Amino acid sequence: MAIKIGLIGCGGHGRDRLSKILFNMESKVQLVACSDLDNASATSTATEHGYSNSYENYMDMLEKEDLDAVVVALPHDLLKSAGKSVLEAGLDLFVEKPAGVNADEILEIIEAEIETKKTVMVGYCMRYNPSRMRLKALFDKNIVGNAIQIHGHKSGSQLGTWNAYLERGGGQLRWHGVHIVDQVLWILGDRQPIRVHCETQWDKVLGSDQDSAFTILFDDGITASISVSSRTETIFDVIEVFGTDGRIRSEWPSEILDIQSSRISDYQNPTRIVPNSPDYMRMYTIQMNDWIDSLIKGVEMPIGSLDALNVYRVIDAAYKSAEAGEPINL
Ligand SMILES: NC(=O)c1ccc[n+]([C@@H]2O[C@H](COP(=O)([O-])OP(=O)(O)OC[C@H]3O[C@@H](n4cnc5c(N)ncnc54)[C@H](O)[C@@H]3O)[C@@H](O)[C@H]2O)c1
Repeated sequence: MAIKIGLIGCGGHGRDRLSKILFNMESKVQLVACSDLDNASATSTATEHGYSNSYENYMDMLEKEDLDAVVVALPHDLLKSAGKSVLEAGLDLFVEKPAGVNADEILEIIEAEIETKKTVMVGYCMRYNPSRMRLKALFDKNIVGNAIQIHGHKSGSQLGTWNAYLERGGGQLRWHGVHIVDQVLWILGDRQPIRVHCETQWDKVLGSDQDSAFTILFDDGITASISVSSRTETIFDVIEVFGTDGRIRSEWPSEILDIQSSRISDYQNPTRIVPNSPDYMRMYTIQMNDWIDSLIKGVEMPIGSLDALNVYRVIDAAYKSAEAGEPINL
């Protein structure tokens, strides 16, 4: 049985990535209705991707349409209220990262999820990047030995609309910082972050955070260093893990992987793996298939609301630390 889908937010991400992929899934999904405050975006998305109906007001869509699940891709300050409305309408939810503007908002989503017994998947897509999945698989096989440190960086000059304003849930920590923190927590598994210390440069005109560098201390002594910037010309995302016996580094969007491990004969010397033609859309395709397959099988969501909460515990502490000028214990 095809999953009957609704879409809330026909903007850059909702329309050109998530909806486009759902459109190509054919028999697994049925695209029923889409909505956007901007009527022209809603109607043209419906025409382009074959939704039967389009709406300006997503509450009308939730009330009138026969849906199973809804994708929400709105500005950050609207994600929580729309996400809760979807759950309260008795539907499963895919909500774009970061699912709200702080940990308190994620707790509200978790409450609604428990009350309604519906599921929540959060769009932390970088976990589905093929090079990043390979880094995680090699790390889990212990090829770096005992993990010591991890570094993550994400940058790109993408703040310019609502995402440049703190009051709309913008700023570089909430735009890109959340992606890096999610990946660091995912790679390190059960380890718990216990302290965060952040330095931030603020945009003097808009007031939001532009560049931040922060550390996270984990309960087993591993340290993470994270840097984000909204001022580099091109978008770039890198994760590198260091252990007693080696290191692995993965870049995006190039998808270049660097490996060195004294435990594996093939990687005794530094080895670079360069994909022929990295595909920007591949991770979104894997992500949306994983979501739909999880709904069809009725299994736990691969990336859920607790993951979003754990990310915000760190990001909220980073903002607090930047403002206070001191480390914050979690
Ligand atoms: N995972 C990724 O790689 C990735 C990339 C880009 C954006 N995102 C996320 O996707 C979400 C949306 O970002 P975007 O870049 O598409 O933003 P966008 O501004 O391009 O699109 C937002 C859309 O929401 C619509 N909208 C605003 N208020 C509305 C309302 N009340 N009801 C219905 N529609 C409304 C706007 O008209 C617009 O079409 C954010 O959470 C962002 O972080 C994720």
